[in-house]
Amino acid sequence: MVVNDLDEAPALETVELIKDLGGSAVACVGSVTDGDFADRFVQAGVDSFGGVDIVVNNAGYTWDSVIQKMSDEQWDAILDIHLKAPFRILRAAQPWFKKLPVDHHRKVVNVSSIAGLNGNAGQVNYSAAKAGIVGMTKTLAKEFGRYNVNVNAVAFGLISTRLTEAPAGDGSIDIDGRSIKVGVNPDLLAAFERGIPLGRAGRPDEAAGAVYSLCIPETDYVSGQTLVCDGGGM
Ligand SMILES: NC(=O)c1ccc[n+]([C@@H]2O[C@H](COP(=O)([O-])OP(=O)(O)OC[C@H]3O[C@@H](n4cnc5c(N)ncnc54)[C@H](O)[C@@H]3O)[C@@H](O)[C@H]2O)c1
Repeated sequence: MVVNDLDEAPALETVELIKDLGGSAVACVGSVTDGDFADRFVQAGVDSFGGVDIVVNNAGYTWDSVIQKMSDEQWDAILDIHLKAPFRILRAAQPWFKKLPVDHHRKVVNVSSIAGLNGNAGQVNYSAAKAGIVGMTKTLAKEFGRYNVNVNAVAFGLISTRLTEAPAGDGSIDIDGRSIKVGVNPDLLAAFERGIPLGRAGRPDEAAGAVYSLCIPETDYVSGQTLVCDGGGM
């Protein structure tokens, strides 16, 4: 497995966890929005594992505002990470999908959001990007079908991660030298949770389970779909 993160330490931590479980992994550190990232990332898979079998486009963060307060910089940054970066990675993977035929299905899973399916006030940039990834998923399912590559998306509802857990304004991530606030107001979070049929936010392992379900042979005839993982509808 090729593990990416912005920083080396968390990427290496995941590499070690995978190795401890008996798997093989290498790190490919850096921002997915860097111009050379896609080629580096795909090449790391080819160099270390002889090809590309599964791609999960998951990296992301939010930078919210109502439209009248949203800058071009905010719009571009969120479209870059959630839409342009997966586009570049899958464009870089295509020649290998074509050149290295295998006797099994290969898988792409793009991470979307219910904000992309239903819209979400304050997230015009994010919801546009997450809707865009659904369109990209459907199109690449059609382009990559001939290589036996399944392309699907998972649209998450509320999942308890750093993105949503910290009280609004308490957590931040450093992206390209900018400190971006993450987290959601706890009252808003509690109100959201009350509206979820399963009565709670999802756990990261449950979110990962939805992605995993689209990477196994049992779903070899599922492509171009968006699996909603949101506890029953919000
Ligand atoms: N948590 C939710 O409720 C929720 C809901 C819907 C969709 N999502 C989506 O799920 C995905 C994962 O988010 P999460 O909730 O696990 O958040 P998270 O902050 O825990 O994880 C996101 C990861 O992306 C990495 N990242 C951010 N910018 C990057 C960059 N430029 N290059 C490389 N890595 C970068 C971060 O370092 C972090 O490891 C995102 O695409 C997010 O939009 C999350």
